[in-house]
Amino acid sequence: MDFAIRAGAPEDAAAIAHVQVSSWRTTYPGIVPDAYLAELDEERFRQHWRQHLSAGEFLLFVAEDAHGVFGFITGGKIREGIKSYDAELYAIYLLADRQAHGAGRALTLTLAASLRAAGFTSMIVWALEQNPAVGFYRRLGAIPVLRKTIQIGGADLPDLALGWTDLHLLVP
Ligand SMILES: CC(C)(COP(=O)(O)OP(=O)(O)OC[C@H]1O[C@@H](n2cnc3c(N)ncnc32)[C@H](O)[C@@H]1OP(=O)(O)O)[C@@H](O)C(=O)NCCC(=O)NCCS
Repeated sequence: MDFAIRAGAPEDAAAIAHVQVSSWRTTYPGIVPDAYLAELDEERFRQHWRQHLSAGEFLLFVAEDAHGVFGFITGGKIREGIKSYDAELYAIYLLADRQAHGAGRALTLTLAASLRAAGFTSMIVWALEQNPAVGFYRRLGAIPVLRKTIQIGGADLPDLALGWTDLHLLVP
């Protein structure tokens, strides 16, 4: 599969919102309550991304091919302090039919390199414990660090933090 990774821009907000909502709806059935998934509002996500991309508040990269943007990753300073970690992968989502072709790895390595260039040394990511993506992060070398319970759509869900203690593990 031919694709390219580049920094996201405010003009990508609609495509990013579409990827996020579509990917939530294919990833989380059986994990997150159906009603919550049905009510996801792409327009609200579009406004959110337009605002944040315009403000340049965090790193965001998109994966695109001849058909357009099909995936994205965001990250930056860790949001909730965890000892030995300074940066966080906030979110990574690909359209279902573009998964398992290397774009997730390419996005993660790009984010890790960019975080390193910004002076960060390590990275954490939170994933719902039932999400198969936990296997992806582990394949890329992350180790389980912390567990907590979060509420989504009224359900209590186990959430797992996985971490790379050294970004050199991802970008030697
Ligand atoms: C998770 C996700 C970003 C991974 O990206 P991807 O492009 O599908 O993964 P890649 O093709 O880059 O895979 C890289 C490696 O991880 C492995 N891998 C991918 N998904 C895996 C999984 N669920 N379990 C175990 N290994 C996995 C691949 O086999 C590959 O291994 P290799 O080193 O042998 O080649 C993508 O599948 C996705 O968007 N999933 C739905 C949304 C989601 O869950 N996001 C994360 C929220 S926390």
